[in-house]
Amino acid sequence: QPREPVDLLVGPAAQVATPVGTGCPPAGPEQGRLQVIPEGAVAVRDGRIVAVGPYADLARRFDPAEVLDASGCTVLPGFVDPHTHLCFAGWRAEEFERRLAGASYQEILAAGGGILDTVRKTRTASEVELAVALRRRLLEVLRMGTTTVEVKSGYGLTTADELKMLRAIRRAADPADDLDGTWPLGGGAGEPAHGPRLRTNRPGATGSGGPGRGSDVHAGDGAAGAGFTGGGTAGRGAAAGTAGAAATWTAAGPGHARPTTGTPRARAAAGSAAPVAAPAAGPVAAGPAAARVPGTGCAGGLVLPEVVATFLGAHAVPPEYRGRPDEYVDRIVEEMLPAVAREGLAEYADVFCEQGVFDLEQTRRIVEAARRLGFRIRLHVDELTPLGGAGLAAEVGAVSADHLLHVRDEDIPRLREAGTIATLLPGTAFFLREPYAPARKLIEAGVPVALATDYNPGSHPAGSMPLVMAIACVGMGMTPAEALVASTLGGAWAVERARRLGSLEPGKQADLVVIEASSYQHLAYRLGTVPVVAVVKAGRVVGV
Ligand code: NIG
Ligand code: FE
Repeated sequence: QPREPVDLLVGPAAQVATPVGTGCPPAGPEQGRLQVIPEGAVAVRDGRIVAVGPYADLARRFDPAEVLDASGCTVLPGFVDPHTHLCFAGWRAEEFERRLAGASYQEILAAGGGILDTVRKTRTASEVELAVALRRRLLEVLRMGTTTVEVKSGYGLTTADELKMLRAIRRAADPADDLDGTWPLGGGAGEPAHGPRLRTNRPGATGSGGPGRGSDVHAGDGAAGAGFTGGGTAGRGAAAGTAGAAATWTAAGPGHARPTTGTPRARAAAGSAAPVAAPAAGPVAAGPAAARVPGTGCAGGLVLPEVVATFLGAHAVPPEYRGRPDEYVDRIVEEMLPAVAREGLAEYADVFCEQGVFDLEQTRRIVEAARRLGFRIRLHVDELTPLGGAGLAAEVGAVSADHLLHVRDEDIPRLREAGTIATLLPGTAFFLREPYAPARKLIEAGVPVALATDYNPGSHPAGSMPLVMAIACVGMGMTPAEALVASTLGGAWAVERARRLGSLEPGKQADLVVIEASSYQHLAYRLGTVPVVAVVKAGRVVGV
């Protein structure tokens, strides 16, 4: 019987672990239900999953053009991070120190710092500077296994600056956009243009240069250069680029020969799905690998996570409207929302519903105006005080109610009845030293839970979903299986893409993460530090 041709076979893997869709968001017992396949594999064609099962079966059925050998590793669905503020200029390390010394997040905001500090920096950045900084962060989170990410505006707070942010989000997410010629060499807003470089003064005498390498090795280059995205960039010399591209394909950073056992290794396997002997170390440039384009991550060009855009003009009351929040709400309703809708720049509208920021009534006004314009709704609720935002989120049919550290008991059944996803961000609770959201109560009440990073410069300056899973388990009492479901299928539901994303099932998009560990539990158990050794986005392999 002839084998069916496929583009890619990922496997054998020590384990393939995935939630299984039921047509409804995973809730209650479903929240922790995984399909776990030992010695598993995933077959991919045209960017979609064709089959998931034991490697022995799939190797018999399929004739793959390429094989990503994941021996000793675990293959999981790509993480879906449904809540971030990834588009911003500048960091707030001094604020971190002030908080550690006793100042509260709200005090700092009330005094014109916090979010408003980032607003000042973001207003002075150009659209392209924001886009470059954002694209670097998109590549940073892709390296950590996030294949889909929601990104909010909310650091502009004028119509022009919010539009600037949303255009930057759209452009950063478009791999065909070279950001006015600045990508990949340009510096982002408040970021250096490149990372450290190791220069070789005695060619041939160094252990760090790979075959064909020139004299410059780019050790870091922020998120844009080394390793994951293909090492050297076109603008930096073809020699480094070539070595980088090949090394990427073998799941090693450029110039870093890694032990081959236990790391995934892609190779051309025309005519045979049986494992072929891999070279002991160093880049493998067999078949398609040789054709990978330097600096772009993969033969087909730059690979980025899928981005979901949210308008968050109601993130804070800007200084110009200090003491007149209702007038700012008028501005959002009358000017900003229609402008964002006109350009089609965001799918969702969000409000930071919080004491001292936007109250329930103001939130309701914004939500109603947004819904009239066709926006779907997600809300920051009950993050720092029990204002009852979760009840409002349920009442207005929000897709997602986020944070919920102080959710009122009576609002929990309302979330379930409304079909609103509880998106929990335990990394933020950890970082702000606040109490955790009652994940167990929510799960036991049948509310579907998603996890998200909140990646932003103030309340959680990190984009690692595995770290969030670890904090969810240790801090909120979720099980590793629940945390994984919440980070994949749960997140996909929270951005309304669960028909296409969030699990490894035939017909779904081939978004996969390969971790260097023998089981999915290691994600949470290893405190977010387990190496992600390869990512597949819509069928395209990117190595770390
Ligand atoms: O989700 N709560 C409001 N927004 C973010 C923080 C943004 C910032 O501090 O810059 C949050 O925690
Ligand atoms: Fe947030």
